[in-house]
Amino acid sequence: MSIVVTGATGQLGRLVVESLLARGVPADQIVAAGRDEGRLADLAANGVRTARIDYSDPASLKEAFAGADALLLVSGSEVGRRVEQHGNAVEAAKDAGAGRIVYTSAPKATTSALVLAPEHKGT
Ligand SMILES: NC(=O)c1ccc[n+]([C@@H]2O[C@H](COP(=O)([O-])OP(=O)(O)OC[C@H]3O[C@@H](n4cnc5c(N)ncnc54)[C@H](OP(=O)(O)O)[C@@H]3O)[C@@H](O)[C@H]2O)c1
Repeated sequence: MSIVVTGATGQLGRLVVESLLARGVPADQIVAAGRDEGRLADLAANGVRTARIDYSDPASLKEAFAGADALLLVSGSEVGRRVEQHGNAVEAAKDAGAGRIVYTSAPKATTSALVLAPEHKGT
């Protein structure tokens, strides 16, 4: 079993990885993924698998998501590019056979008038 957490170099992703560990998920069943793998070195030292990914780089996603059962997709920060980027991540997770994808969307994204909602709806 493996759970992939993207955005692990960011605030939420790191908190999720730490929470999974605290709940007893074995470290080697967690993949902490981020653009700068060096910033995940302390997690790697504790047995967490780490991976370098960029949502704009499908090959990096394919490699990192291989064997994933579940994915937490933390929304990226490059506004205007995120539908394509997140789509790359969703496709990679589907190709890997992941049974569950959880995404940090926005409240009622499909109907919200929030200026950022369309990218979440698109994702
Ligand atoms: N914090 C808030 O109050 C708040 C409120 C509303 C919505 N949000 C959204 O919720 C999400 C998570 O929040 P957060 O506070 O954890 O944000 P954060 O600390 O900025 O983390 C965002 C993560 O996404 C990664 N990322 C961005 N672009 C990427 C790309 N092209 N490929 C791969 N990874 C990429 C970042 O990697 P790098 O470390 O390499 O930049 C970082 O790990 C963000 O999208 C944020 O905009 C946050």
